[in-house]
Amino acid sequence: MRGESEVPFSDDGFKIPVAERVKRLPPYLFGKINKLKYEKRVAGIDVIDLGMGNPTDPPDPLIVEKMTEAVSDPRNHRYSVANGIANLRKEVTARYWKRYGVRLDPDSEVVTCIGSKEGFSHLCLALMGPGDTAIVPSPSFPVHVYAVMLAAGNVIELDCREPDQFLSNIAYTCEHLYPKPRVVVVNFPHNPSATVIEQDFYVELVRLARKYSFMVISDFAYADICFDGYKAPSFLATPGATEVGVEFTTMSKGYSMAGWRIGFCSGNSEMVRALSTIKGYYDYGLFQPVQIAAIVAMRHCDAAVDSIAAEYQQRRDAFCGGLERLGWEIERPKAGMFVWAKIPEPWSEMGSIDFAMKLLDEGGVAVSPGRGFGEDGEGYLRMAIVENSQRLRQAVKQIGKCLKSEEISAE
Ligand SMILES: Cc1ncc(COP(=O)(O)O)c(C=O)c1O
Repeated sequence: MRGESEVPFSDDGFKIPVAERVKRLPPYLFGKINKLKYEKRVAGIDVIDLGMGNPTDPPDPLIVEKMTEAVSDPRNHRYSVANGIANLRKEVTARYWKRYGVRLDPDSEVVTCIGSKEGFSHLCLALMGPGDTAIVPSPSFPVHVYAVMLAAGNVIELDCREPDQFLSNIAYTCEHLYPKPRVVVVNFPHNPSATVIEQDFYVELVRLARKYSFMVISDFAYADICFDGYKAPSFLATPGATEVGVEFTTMSKGYSMAGWRIGFCSGNSEMVRALSTIKGYYDYGLFQPVQIAAIVAMRHCDAAVDSIAAEYQQRRDAFCGGLERLGWEIERPKAGMFVWAKIPEPWSEMGSIDFAMKLLDEGGVAVSPGRGFGEDGEGYLRMAIVENSQRLRQAVKQIGKCLKSEEISAE
């Protein structure tokens, strides 16, 4: 029996010894804002929430109908397969062919994920370990940083807002770092900055990947939400891309299926296999009705995807137009679900977290402070255009009032 003195209790009680990988995670910078948002909601205040890229629109009724039908089938309630059912993976390859002219093998080059966030995180775990380095875009979508850290890797954040400069900084880092970076993450259309690129960016990236032997992970979450005729290029459509990397796509944004948790990792078969192996240990695959409904979505709902993109474009114009009339300097995004705006004078010295708190507290509008995406995000706000145009106009009015600008007609 253990003696009294061996019982692991200190004066302040038992200490849970959480793993180093959890302790290494950076502080969560949205905590203060989320708390205030919650308090306001509890107090019955209507907060216009532009904080998160969480679509408010429902998916096409056909998708919901198929889901309902599949749920009623008793055969669909068993464990599914960890890498996704064969017909779903086939549908992903059909879509890549139709949209980007990319030929993929559904058995070895596609794996289904519980949303691309889960897939990305587990892929980092499959590819990286202590001492490995990943280059990630900055300002950073938090998961791009956290997933590398959870895999015990080191992160080098490179500003991606000038894509040519980003590429030359990747080359410079590879030239001077030892050991060389193992993985380069790219994410265009970019969250949070809305930066977009053309196909030639990937041509150069593939050249660098071959030269410096790094793997590429392209996060293509906003593939479907493009404006003004712009078409976001797929990394996989670049010659040689499948030799060096993979691409994540998701049904969360273009199909408004965020809560359904379904995404895909496609491309290099060794990387896909590594992810499938890890997933095979961690999970049993998605609920089968979700996979069946996703097949129908990809097969029959192109028009719905186009109309979702058109809706975001209208919202962008309503929101950006209003902010411009308030005197904000806005670069209207060509793609994605976010307006990335410089904090205007005279508030630019305030810091993005305090400024976002002010907009929430005094204006009832929740936005994400740029600082939440790393140091390169300081001085900016990220505003998700997930509410309808009318609510967005109302948000502009409330922001204007809160900043004591002249009353404007946001129309
Ligand atoms: C850049 C980026 N990648 C991935 C995700 C997560 O997508 P999913 O819902 O497929 O996990 C998001 C969601 O906001 C995102 O902005």
